[in-house]
Amino acid sequence: MTTAPLPELPEMPTARPAGRPFAPPEELAAVRPLARIPLADGSPGWLVTGFAAARAVTSDPRFSNRMELQRLVLPRAGMPDRMPPAPPGMFLQTDPPEHTRYRRLLAGRFTVRRMRLLTEGVERTVAEHLDAMERAGGTADLVAAYAQPIPALVICEILGVPTEDHDRFQENTRAFNDPAATAEEMGRAMQELAGYLRDLVNAKRAAPTDDILSELTDSDLTEEELVNVATLLLGAGLDTTANMIALGTYALLRHPDQLAVMRDDPEAVDGGVEELMRYLSIAHTGQRAALEDVELEGHMVKEGDIVALSMAAANRDPERFPDPDRLDLRREAPGHIGFGHGVHQCLGQQLARVEMRAAFPALLRRFPDLRLAVPEEEVPLRSDSDIYGVDRLPVAWGPEGAG
Ligand code: HEM
Repeated sequence: MTTAPLPELPEMPTARPAGRPFAPPEELAAVRPLARIPLADGSPGWLVTGFAAARAVTSDPRFSNRMELQRLVLPRAGMPDRMPPAPPGMFLQTDPPEHTRYRRLLAGRFTVRRMRLLTEGVERTVAEHLDAMERAGGTADLVAAYAQPIPALVICEILGVPTEDHDRFQENTRAFNDPAATAEEMGRAMQELAGYLRDLVNAKRAAPTDDILSELTDSDLTEEELVNVATLLLGAGLDTTANMIALGTYALLRHPDQLAVMRDDPEAVDGGVEELMRYLSIAHTGQRAALEDVELEGHMVKEGDIVALSMAAANRDPERFPDPDRLDLRREAPGHIGFGHGVHQCLGQQLARVEMRAAFPALLRRFPDLRLAVPEEEVPLRSDSDIYGVDRLPVAWGPEGAG
């Protein structure tokens, strides 16, 4: 134990450094690995910015992810400071053993082998969207035309959403993930989506098809649990993958040498995707609540204390990744925590990898001269959301002035 005082920040920093949209807020690097910050209600909290400390917290069962124990780190309009326990099936915000029951049921359905079987279908979806972009002319908003629809259609495949419902489903999930949506719009979209998923669960029970949701109707999960598991898969899997595809493309456009690696060297794609995950760390924050007194980096975190985690700062810890602010696709970034760490480590990571490994190289090979269609300052970055990214990414290709 140490009695050395920790650095204190006046609040959780959120602003990205000027002109460096992919870098975490600068204040974070100055307080590695651990600092004190006030929570939204003014009470004292902890902030982890070091890689080893972030892994220690996320793999320690004495730190809980239960929804009702968490508190707001940043004030959020319309959000209460204390939340009720997660409803049955929303297992991300639960602890073992409750969490383990769902995770066991699902883990075997999201393995590397099963997700790789989806590769051909994902590549087809990717190619169809590139065809549509090409037909539409020499410019597009990459978010709407490519980054959003691909993960949505892949999830349709997993949940077994029939083709005729794809448009309605995509509309519902778009509203559900829209950071500009008001609380009312969000509530309506979530209700519609839950209604749709309830009908889908019952349809799968009556007539199972070849998909994960149908398989789950054969388990002991109730209708409510099934609807919530499906909602969690959507909540966790759509916006994340869409923003990785869009922000990853933006990062590559700003690093043409790295873009060329992704486009021209098939051997570099898998490692390159891991490096983009590390470099961008779009799931940039997290938090846990201490269930008992725990020593962390020589300091005593007290029972009930909230530990905020900056995954973005941890993934740029120079003790773990030399020259961490450099995007280097050949680095491969083994062990990054862009998909989290510990029991809650991303269930859908193999699926996300299949999608990203298909989406980046296919886009760059189809449009080798892909470029931004607006000045950099006009790319709308999402700085106030739990998932970092871009809301629109206007791109162009082909001869200048075409499209
Ligand atoms: C959990 C990131 C794609 C489903 C997580 C966590 C992170 C993450 C950081 C851990 C959260 C925590 O510890 O608090 C990402 C990123 C993705 C992605 C960056 C895309 C690039 C997906 C996809 C799916 C998915 C495609 C599903 C189809 C889940 C689920 C959990 C989770 C269900 C909760 C796991 C648990 O609590 O056991 N994800 N994810 N994710 N993710 Fe992902």
